[in-house]
Amino acid sequence: MQSSKTELSFRDEILLGIPKLLPPQRPRIQELNHAPKRKEVLSREEKKLAIRNALRYFPSAWHSELSVEFAMELEKYGRIYMYRFKPGYKMHARPISEYPAKTVEGAAIMLMIQNNLDPVVAQHPEELITYGGNGAVFQNWAQYLLSMQYLATMTTEQTLHMYSGHPMGLFPSSREAPRVVITNGMMIPNYSSQDDWEKFNALGVTQYGQMTAGSYMYIGPQGIVHGTAITVMNAFRKVLPKSESPNGKIFLTAGLGGMSGAQPKAGNIAGCITVCAEVNEAAATKRYTQGWVDELHTTIDTLIARTKKAINKNEILSLAYVGNVVEVWERFYEEGLFIHLGSDQTSLHNPWAGGYYPAGLSFEEANIMMAENPELFKEKVQESLRRQVNAINKHSEKGTYFFDYGNAFLLEASRAGADVMSENNIDFRYPSYVQDILGPMCFDFGFGPFRWVCTSGNPEDLEKTDELALSVMEKIRDTAPEEIQQQMQDNIKWINEAESNNLVVGSQARILYADAEGRIKIAEAFNKAVSSGKISAPIVLGRDHHDVSGTDSPFRETSNIYDGSQFTADMAIHNVIGDSFRGASWVSIHNGGGVGWGEVINGGFGMVLDGSEAASKRLKNMLFYDVNNGISRRSWARNKEALFAIKREMKRSPNLRVTLPNIVADKVLDGLFE
Ligand SMILES: NC(=O)c1ccc[n+]([C@@H]2O[C@H](COP(=O)([O-])OP(=O)(O)OC[C@H]3O[C@@H](n4cnc5c(N)ncnc54)[C@H](O)[C@@H]3O)[C@@H](O)[C@H]2O)c1
Repeated sequence: MQSSKTELSFRDEILLGIPKLLPPQRPRIQELNHAPKRKEVLSREEKKLAIRNALRYFPSAWHSELSVEFAMELEKYGRIYMYRFKPGYKMHARPISEYPAKTVEGAAIMLMIQNNLDPVVAQHPEELITYGGNGAVFQNWAQYLLSMQYLATMTTEQTLHMYSGHPMGLFPSSREAPRVVITNGMMIPNYSSQDDWEKFNALGVTQYGQMTAGSYMYIGPQGIVHGTAITVMNAFRKVLPKSESPNGKIFLTAGLGGMSGAQPKAGNIAGCITVCAEVNEAAATKRYTQGWVDELHTTIDTLIARTKKAINKNEILSLAYVGNVVEVWERFYEEGLFIHLGSDQTSLHNPWAGGYYPAGLSFEEANIMMAENPELFKEKVQESLRRQVNAINKHSEKGTYFFDYGNAFLLEASRAGADVMSENNIDFRYPSYVQDILGPMCFDFGFGPFRWVCTSGNPEDLEKTDELALSVMEKIRDTAPEEIQQQMQDNIKWINEAESNNLVVGSQARILYADAEGRIKIAEAFNKAVSSGKISAPIVLGRDHHDVSGTDSPFRETSNIYDGSQFTADMAIHNVIGDSFRGASWVSIHNGGGVGWGEVINGGFGMVLDGSEAASKRLKNMLFYDVNNGISRRSWARNKEALFAIKREMKRSPNLRVTLPNIVADKVLDGLFE
C-alpha cells in the first residue's frame, strides 16, 4: 500500500483535493458521535452499483483495494462515507485569511462548510452530518475534498454547481452570478418516500440536506434558542393581559434533546417557569451540566413542591423532570397546578423508533420492547398518547393554551385515536406554533431568522455587529407602525442580551428576527463598517430556511396558508431563482428539511459583504426580494397581516407592484352548493 506524507500545510492540503497517493486506512474516532447504521435497502446488484459509483472519484489503480473497504462500509454502516479520505487537519471555521482562495466568496464558503463539520458543532462529524440525524453537508469525504479544491481555485468568472453533495464542477459564469448553486435531495416527485431516500442515498446519488446543513449556514444552537424564545414570548402574550408578565407562570413541555433542549433556556429568556420532562437521564443531565436548565428533579413529588414554591415567589426558573411527561400532565392536574402554556417536543415525527417513550415503561424497558416487540411497543405509544391528550384536554378546559410544536404530536395523537379533533372533524382542536404564533406574528410581516457570521473569527467583530444591529433596530422602532412594534421590541431585547447569553458555538455568529427593512439596513451598516475597516473582515449574511419566503411546508412554515396553496412549492422555487440573479453569493434548494423527505421544499442563500459598492447594491436588491416574495404570496392567500405588510411596502417602493386579492363575503358563498 502506498501512503501519503502528512506534512502538507492546511492550504496545500486544500489545494490538493483528492490526494495523489492513496492515504493509509484510518479507523473511525470512537469518542465522536456516529450516525446509526442505516436500513439495508439495496439488492446485490444495487450494492455493486453503489461501489461503482463511489470508485469513480478515484484512479483505477486504487479500485481493488478501495472496493473491499467501501463494500465493508456499506455492509457495516449502510452508507459509504470513505473515512480513509477524511483530512488530518483540524475541522473548524478558521479566520477567512487562512483559506487559499481566488475569491472572497470561495474562502467564506469554505469557512462555513468547515463550521458545519466542526465536531463541537456537528452531530455526526465523521459521517458529514450536521444535525437532525440525517442533515448532510456531503455524502462522503471525496466530495468534501473536491469541493474545497474547487472553491479554492474558483474565479469570479465561474460558478460551482453542487448536486446533493457532489461537486459537478466549475462552469463559466459572471461576476454577478452566484459563486455556488446547491441542490439537495431534489427528486422526481414520485420518488420522494422515506425508503427512496434510503435507497438513493445508499447508491450515492442524493442526500438529505435538512435546512442549514446542506446549505452551509448552520450556526449551532443559537438559532433554535432564539426561535423558541420568540415563540414562548408570543404564546404568553396570547394568553396574558398586557399588564401581566410571564414571571411565576408555567410553561409545561417535554424533550431535552437536540432542538427541544433549547426550551428551558428560551423559557428563562421569556421570563416564565419552564417545566420540561425528559425520559432519558443522559439527555437531561447533559443539558443541566451545559447550563441550559436550572434544576434537575428525579421524583415527581420534589418537582411539584419546587414548582409550587416558584409560583409563590413569582420566579423565573427552568426545571427538568427526569421522567415521562404524561405523569407531569396528570399529577399537575391532580394537584390543581394551573398551566398557562403547554406544548411538547418529543420526536413524534419518528414515533416507533425512540422518538416518543410511552408512560408506564422505564426508559430501559421501552428500549428493549421497541427492538424485541415492536407491535406491542406501538400499542404502548398510542395508549400513552391517548392518556397524554386526556390530561391536556382537562387542563385546556381550565384555560391552558396548548400548541403543537411542529413535531407531529397532534398528527400521531389523532392516528392513535386520541381526542384531538375539533367539531368539524377536519381540523385539530389545538393550533400549531406557526398557525397561531410565528405565522401571523412574524412571517406574515416579513420577520424571520436573519443571521450573520464574522469571517475574521474575532469576537470583537461580533460585538461591533451587535452594536450596529441594535442601533439600526432602535432607529427603525422609533417610527415603526403599531403592528410591528412588538417584534422590534423583542429583537432589540434579544440583541441587547445576546452577548451575555453566551450562545456562540463554532463560528462567530448571531441571529435575530427582522423584516425586509431591518435586514437591509443592518446589512448596509455592516457593509459600511467592513469598508471603513471598523470590522476587520467580510461578513457572511444568511438565514435559516424556516422563514417567510424560502420554505413551502404545509405542516410547518406555510401551515397558516388556507387557500389550498399550502401544498404547492412555487414560492420556494421562485425564491431560490429570484435570489440567485439578485446578488446572492450562493443559493440552495432542498427537498426535506425539518419535517421530512417529500414533505417540504426549502431554500436558502448566503451573501458575502466585502465592503464594496457592488455588495451594497446586491444586498438591497436581494434581501428585498427574499422577504417580499413570501409576503406577497401570504397576502394573496388573504392573510391579514401580510396584506398590511405588502401594502405598506408598495407605498414605500414604487417599483413593487403585487397582485392583491379581492376578499369575498361569506354570504356570497352561503347556499351555493346546497
Ligand atoms: N424547536 C423547534 O423550533 C422545532 C421546530 C419544529 C419542529 N421541532 C420538532 O421537535 C421535535 C424534537 O426535536 P429534537 O431535535 O429535540 O429531537 P430529539 O429526539 O433530540 O429530542 C426529543 C426528546 O424527547 C424525549 N422524550 C421522548 N418521549 C418522551 C416522553 N414521553 N416524555 C419525556 N421525554 C420524552 C427523548 O428522550 C428525547 O431526548 C422533532 O420532532 C422536531 O422536528 C422543533
